[in-house]
This record gives sequence, C-alpha cells and structure tokens, in this order.
Amino acid sequence: MYVCLCHGFTDTQVRDVVATGCTSVSDVYRRLGDLPQCRKCVPEVCALVRQGRLDCPEAVWMEAAE
Ligand code: FES
Repeated sequence: MYVCLCHGFTDTQVRDVVATGCTSVSDVYRRLGDLPQCRKCVPEVCALVRQGRLDCPEAVWMEAAE
C-alpha cells in the first residue's frame, strides 16, 4: 500500500529500509525520496519505523551505539 504519494513509496519499502538499518523517520525519507513535502504520510512512516525497531533488535542496537 502506498504510504507517501508525494514520493511514491509503499509500506513494504519503508519496512525494508528499516530492516536494513534506517532507525529514524528522516533516514527513511533520505533513503526513499527526499524531505517530506505535504507531510500527510509522516505519522504512518513514524509508526512503521517504531514497529520496525520492535521487530529488529539489531536496529535498536545500532541506534543505541550512535
Ligand atoms: Fe508523503 Fe506528501 S504524502 S510527503
């Protein structure tokens, strides 16, 4: 399902980049597009990042090390 219509990325793409080490919302936008434009998708991206952190203990570890 499309999450961001401005940049045309899906929830699956967000989950994939979170699983490969994106630990923040800004990281997701950097990897998948650019800065958010209308920002309607930010709450959904934030929820997916939060869920991804719970699903990927390695990502939590990487964030703690930064
Ligand atoms: Fe994502 Fe507009 S829908 S920035």
